[in-house]
Parts: sequence; structure tokens; C-alpha cells
Amino acid sequence: LRIAVLYGGRSAEHDVSVMSGTNVMQALDPGKYDAVPVFITRDGRWLASRFEGGVLETPESGTELCLLPGGKGRLVALPAGGVPHELPAIDLLFPVLHGLPGEDGSVQGLADVAGVALVGCDILGSATALDKDIAKRLYLEAGLATARAVTIRQGAEPSFAELAGTLGLPVFIKPARQGSSVGVSKVNSEEEYAAALAEGFRYDRKLVAEEFIRGREIELSVLEQPDGELFVSRPGEIRPAQNHGFYSYDAKYIDADGAAIIVPAQLPAEVEAKLQAMAADAFRALGCDGMARADFFVTEDMRILVNELNTIPGFTNISMYPKAMAASGVSYPELIDRLVAHGLA
Ligand code: DAL
Ligand code: MG
Repeated sequence: LRIAVLYGGRSAEHDVSVMSGTNVMQALDPGKYDAVPVFITRDGRWLASRFEGGVLETPESGTELCLLPGGKGRLVALPAGGVPHELPAIDLLFPVLHGLPGEDGSVQGLADVAGVALVGCDILGSATALDKDIAKRLYLEAGLATARAVTIRQGAEPSFAELAGTLGLPVFIKPARQGSSVGVSKVNSEEEYAAALAEGFRYDRKLVAEEFIRGREIELSVLEQPDGELFVSRPGEIRPAQNHGFYSYDAKYIDADGAAIIVPAQLPAEVEAKLQAMAADAFRALGCDGMARADFFVTEDMRILVNELNTIPGFTNISMYPKAMAASGVSYPELIDRLVAHGLA
């Protein structure tokens, strides 16, 4: 079974994707799978790559690859200065791409156009989950509590006073379609608001301002079985170090002590059961299939709010998706096997 593992990409989460891709390559049992690493450069070209000695290469040039529309996995190689030729077809596309384009339905659409099986969520759920503005409306429509938010479009920004009046302080300003907390700011003042808008608009034309929720960050892994039933893991908890203030990009990936990860999270059994039910409801509400990591806030009085779903969650060494699965009896290789089985079903 030939599996093309896509990693890198044009997203601001390029580096995170390389870390995730490395772990996915590591977990694909060479006895069962013929894994073909495909590196996507920061400008979006697909290049043939290699995984050797635990290192996933990130070439800047070399053989470009092309998946043929309607080709059911037929792959064409375009060597720099060489003669184009066809490579053995692939059976399954495994996008390990965070953010956009990749986690947002675009690569999922490409798989569909090519007629090749795909690991993870399909077009609709990928697109809704990646857009924090659209996702919030769907959570609310499904009766799922979520932090109050205001959508901000470029050129029509509310004043700081309006925003503070609606949402209180501090507020979080987030690009609507971005992950790993890239472009996210915590705002307490008019000056910080101006800086946060500028920072956020670097990544998206649409931002979401969200009320601050004082609560614990709890995450669960959802995996759809080939028969459509949902397997929901035990919850894990993220505790960002005090000096980081929130679970920022640096706290996640730069500072080794940026956050503590506790799996399973210490929560009353009934709260855990409610979280599992809400994770499944949120997954359905967004039209997801395949997999997602569902992120929540749990307040001191045990109120549960959905924060977001990630349809291609991190697979890095610190990432919660595989850790929460492992704490629920599904080891890393077993998880990969199940994702592959779902993709082929
Ligand atoms: N967006 C990052 C990779 C995550 O959700 O884990
Ligand atoms: Mg995310």
C-alpha cells in the first residue's frame, strides 16, 4: 500500500507540519506500508523527499511531483532538467498539513479531483473547522456553549470601547483561519488592540475577537471508525507556563518548558463523560469525518465551552492527539493503522 505523506506547506505552521510529518513517517510500519514523503515548499511546490535515519528532508529543489486529475493516484515526476516520467501510483494521500491550504479542505478537494483515497476529514468539515467564525455559528446552532465572539472584517473594525463593552477585558484577537496560535494576541488596552489588529491581519482578512475565559484547557481526540461510529479519547490537559500567559506558539513549540501536558486530565467522571459527548456533537455539528482534536475550556464551576476543532491536529512530540489516544488504549502505530483503514473504507 503506497501512502503519500504530505508535509510542510505554505501555511504559517510549516515547521509544525514538518515535526508532525516526521512522527507520522516514523509510525508508518515499513512492513505494511510503502510511505512516500512529499515535501511541500513554502511556495507550494510538491517535491520528492526522503526519510532516512529518523530525519525527514525538506528539499528546496529537486523532482517536482504532480497528482493527475482523475488518475486515481497516478503520480508524475518532473525532474529538474530531466525527462518527466510516471512513478508507481499511490493508494492513499495522508495530508499532515496544518492551517491553509491543507487543513482547510483544499488538499481534500485535490484528493477528490484526483480520485485518490484520503486520510482524515473531507472537504466540508475541514473548511468549517478551520474557520473560527463559521465554526462558532455551527456550535451555537447545535446548542454547544462557546466563548462569546465578534467577527472583525478588515476595513470595518469595531472601536476598542465597543469591543470591550461587548466582550469585557482582556479579549483575544485571532485570525479566523489559522492554527498553532499564530497571529493571536491578548488585548487589554487600546494600544494593544491596534497592534493585535495589525498582527492578525497579516494572516487573514477576517479576525475573531473572543472573550477571555478563565478556565482549564482540555482536549480530546476524536476518531471515526470505518463503520461511522465515533471513538472519543479520554481528555488531556494543557497547562501553559505562567510566564507565557496563554498557550502561544512559543509556549507550544519553542520553549521546551512552555507548557505541561497532563493525560488523562484530572476531572470528575461526569465532566469527562460530558466532554466526550460534546466532542462528538461538535464533530458532527461541523460536518467532520475521519479525525479531529476537540479543544475545550472548563471553568472552575465546571462549565464546558468548545474552543475549536482541529481536523489535522499536531502529531509532534508534544502533541495531544496521539497522547490522548495512547491514554485511551490506542498506541501511535495502532492510531496510524486506524486512520489508514478509515481512509480506505
Ligand atoms: N494546529 C496545531 C498543529 C494543532 O492543532 O495541534
Ligand atoms: Mg488549531
